[in-house]
Amino acid sequence: MKTHLVLLGLPGAGKGTQGQMLSKKVGIPFISSGDALRSELKKRTDIAKEFEEYMNAGLLVPDDLVEEFLEKMLKRYDLRKGFIFDGFPRTTHQAEFIERYLREINVPLDAAVYLSVPDEVIIKRISGRRVCPKCGAVYNIYYNPPKHDEICDICGTPLVQREDDMPDVVKKRIEVYKKQTKPLIEYYKNKGLLVTVNANGSVQEVFNRLEGALND
Ligand code: AP5
Repeated sequence: MKTHLVLLGLPGAGKGTQGQMLSKKVGIPFISSGDALRSELKKRTDIAKEFEEYMNAGLLVPDDLVEEFLEKMLKRYDLRKGFIFDGFPRTTHQAEFIERYLREINVPLDAAVYLSVPDEVIIKRISGRRVCPKCGAVYNIYYNPPKHDEICDICGTPLVQREDDMPDVVKKRIEVYKKQTKPLIEYYKNKGLLVTVNANGSVQEVFNRLEGALND
């Protein structure tokens, strides 16, 4: 099975959902740049002040800033048995940075998994997303609602909407994705690393397709 992976796809394609399921099943680290950046924002660190403006506007944090942050973060993980990168690389510059980083530590990249979903599905998934500000659990009011209205099943905390899930910001994130991140599909295709998974379907259906594609 391919286990050294980066995940690609529109905002809301299910990268976090599928990445975490795979991580639990296979026992390899799931590393999300978005989660790590949001955790810095919560802690109000100095570096977070530099990210905040970009994230709240739905723009990418500039490559130099984010690569410095990612490098520090990646050093905390043992990537030899595998990894699932969610949310990075996001630009060709970041893809080259990741390649260099992995080469230096002598770890391969097996596949870039593209979760393919039509735009209209994305809008409903994102507008329905609710997250627990305490334990980080992710729900969806349409597809995966909590047992009690807007309350986390795990820790009982009231759920919130991500700041950047508001309609105007989502529109911007989709625009930014198409301009800056979508070219990575071609980039990895040219390297023979692209694995495309139809991510339109239930969470379990998509997971079955993902596992199948990684075992091919
Ligand atoms: P990030 O957190 O990476 O956001 P994103 O890529 O826009 O992805 P999302 O988290 O919105 O979606 P997802 O694909 O993980 O979907 P999920 O599984 O949650 O980035 C946020 C910001 O941080 C960026 O805008 C940027 O500012 C900054 N940033 C991060 N990394 C950066 C980088 N490398 N460089 C520069 N800036 C960076 O699912 C979405 C919803 O749908 C959930 O409610 C879920 O329950 C539901 N769902 C999932 N799958 C299904 C399904 N099959 N059926 C029904 N519902 C489903």
